[in-house]
Amino acid sequence: MDSEFRNVYDDEQRARAYAQLDFPGTYYLAFRDLSSVFENHAKGKRAVDFGCGTGRSTRFLRDLGFEVVGIDISRPMLDEARRLDPDGDYRLVKDGDFGGLKGCLFDLVLSAFTFDNIPTMGERKAALLSLKDLLAEDGCIVSVVSAPEIYINEWVSFSTRDYPENRNAVSGDRVLIEILGVGDARPVEDSVCSDDDYQRLFRQSGLSVLETLRPLAKGNEPVKWVSETEIAPWTVYVLGAGS
Ligand SMILES: C[S@@+](CC[C@H](N)C(=O)[O-])C[C@H]1O[C@@H](n2cnc3c(N)ncnc32)[C@H](O)[C@@H]1O
Repeated sequence: MDSEFRNVYDDEQRARAYAQLDFPGTYYLAFRDLSSVFENHAKGKRAVDFGCGTGRSTRFLRDLGFEVVGIDISRPMLDEARRLDPDGDYRLVKDGDFGGLKGCLFDLVLSAFTFDNIPTMGERKAALLSLKDLLAEDGCIVSVVSAPEIYINEWVSFSTRDYPENRNAVSGDRVLIEILGVGDARPVEDSVCSDDDYQRLFRQSGLSVLETLRPLAKGNEPVKWVSETEIAPWTVYVLGAGS
């Protein structure tokens, strides 16, 4: 498998396609439980959305009453975020450098799918350390990531059947997945990471796991689920500073 990894979201066509996404199908499960997670763990309303993309997750936070800054390394994604939400606070950052947020502390850092696009363990650890530095006392990081199973099954919102090589992928390998229904059939390139490796990274970064969710569909939603009632596509890690 080609090990060259690039941020597929640094692309205008991809950004336009992604901007259409709200919370359909499989994505619904990633966001379904977040408001109660925030109620249980976030002690205030200052939030940063790490890897805000076209602003879906940023607007989600704002609708829940957070004062939120969205940060991303992709200009095309931020252009779409600003087009959809001219009054939102969206900032371009360099990889791992949150200099523009110096002096700001947050009660909540949300990272929705961003770690899927961070290619190496070293870069993931560096990002976690930088995010930890943004936390106010008792602040928490909520990181929604793709479970490794997402890359080897079929879903309402994703297909992986054309990428059987995903089955041999181990942590740090590039995997391919197609987002369905957005009019861009080019697969997204992610970097897979096992739960064991995330746990190791959190320990190494001085973060403790406060809660882990693996949201499954209940079966009574108005959606014809594919794998979602039996296999959790996402993992939600709630992290606090301190080992
Ligand atoms: C799958 S999109 C998710 C966007 C948004 N969070 C949502 O839920 O719709 C992942 C985003 O993470 C961004 N990203 C990847 N690596 C990043 C990094 N090191 N720092 C900040 N953003 C990053 C990408 O540019 C992309 O916009």
